[in-house]
Amino acid sequence: MRIVILLLIVAVSAANILAHGDEEHDDDIVEAVVIGEVSVPENPTYHEHIAPIVEARCVACHRDGQIAAYAPLTEAQDVIWAANDIRYHVVNGIMPPWMPSRENLPLKNDRSLSDAEIATIAAWVDDGAALGEAQDHAPAATDGFDFVEVRADLTLQLDEPYEPADDVLDDYRCFAFPLGIDSPQFVTGYEFLPGVPAMAHHAILYLVDSALEAEAEGRDGADGAPGWSCYGATGLSESGSIIATWTPGTFGVAFPPGTGYKIEPGQIIVLQMHYNLWTTREADQTRVLMQLESAESGLAELWTIPLNAPVEIPCPAGVDGPQCERDYALDRVAALFGGAMRGVPDRRLSRCRQSLEDYTDNTGENARGFCDYPSPFFEPLTVYGVLGHMHELGRSFRMELNPGREDSLLLLDIPRWDFHWQDRYEFVEPVTIEFGDVLRMSCIWDNSLSEDPRYVVWGEGTADEMCFGTVMALRQ
Ligand code: HEC
Repeated sequence: MRIVILLLIVAVSAANILAHGDEEHDDDIVEAVVIGEVSVPENPTYHEHIAPIVEARCVACHRDGQIAAYAPLTEAQDVIWAANDIRYHVVNGIMPPWMPSRENLPLKNDRSLSDAEIATIAAWVDDGAALGEAQDHAPAATDGFDFVEVRADLTLQLDEPYEPADDVLDDYRCFAFPLGIDSPQFVTGYEFLPGVPAMAHHAILYLVDSALEAEAEGRDGADGAPGWSCYGATGLSESGSIIATWTPGTFGVAFPPGTGYKIEPGQIIVLQMHYNLWTTREADQTRVLMQLESAESGLAELWTIPLNAPVEIPCPAGVDGPQCERDYALDRVAALFGGAMRGVPDRRLSRCRQSLEDYTDNTGENARGFCDYPSPFFEPLTVYGVLGHMHELGRSFRMELNPGREDSLLLLDIPRWDFHWQDRYEFVEPVTIEFGDVLRMSCIWDNSLSEDPRYVVWGEGTADEMCFGTVMALRQ
């Protein structure tokens, strides 16, 4: 073993720092961060030191048929050939994709690499990326991952394949499925089997009330193809609750033992697919396997608590005109999504006991939305996991229990928001929310990222924004 000090050069963007909080903020700074002294093996080789890392943390996506199939990392020669590129991506924290920061409460299935793994890869590349002996090939380092076998009690699949739209690079499509159950059931696990993994970038399952079945039927196929176009959520007048998500590299999921989401006859499931069409465009017939237990099984019912914070994003510097007025934004969402949408931004403010006064400091480059949820809304709860959602102007997302208090906990800390890598996260140890606790959700946007900047309020379209989160919990 030898000791190296690894220098990480990271771009710390404005979004990493909560601008309106107690920390000060600066525009993009590039900082050298010493991540510390770590031990790396003497003369590292592919077979002995690199294969176990790559097999556990990279090949789920970097192999045939998967989202990063164009850059396979399954064979020794692939990895050696791409050594410099790999070094760059891992040292800069770009790969593997894992959005939560290191300050986040420990999460299950954490894909990120340890300092020692990063340093080992860097040292291996710097020493000439040696192959080593096949007999020394070490097993994949899969600790920290749950591998779950999901029983297919119910399988959702489109009757006909869906051809993605041919005029976009990202196609967001919703599909409705009747459940076809005749008694209440619990969903206790699921697995997504994307039809064309190389273009499936994320998927979300919403459980939707039976009252919306007619609306979903009306939307389905209205443009001549299965399903309907949707972006921020289902696009129905009520979105229902998220019960499952998928991103590349995720496998079967089981909910915490003894728990499940209750589904009732008549409810429908809406599947939202995000197809990323850079490398391929093929007909898709994704399947979702769901594992069920009967309602009599005595399971505890999981609850998805939706959280919403206000979205008040002014125009960036240098952009002026009527499109920078809030009223213009309200008229726009009303015209696009129906008159009722006009009142949503004000309702978001009042639900959080705020007014526009709370957002006078927002600038186009650095606009924040936040909401504090006091415990009477919750208490007491066992929280297993959380999810955060914004659109493409998002810079950072945070969900914090008891901010500013000594016992504060960072439930979800995403310092560099990336719409392409949104997911649900489960804690290694569940968290309890008690009487007197406060849950704060906050989002930061940068409207200078917009190609067509204007005042932005809450809405479901690609050009609108959200600060949305969920808490997956059990009432105690
Ligand atoms: C969850 C899926 C996933 C995992 C796991 C993953 N990658 Fe990637 N990787 C991608 C995707 C998708 C891209 C394409 C660019 C993008 O979307 O950011 C990519 C791009 C890359 C590239 C750039 C390829 C090129 O030349 O365009 C490198 C190098 C890379 N990944 C290395 C790694 C390494 C090394 C690991 C493991 C330590 C890893 N990746 C883990 C999904 C993944």
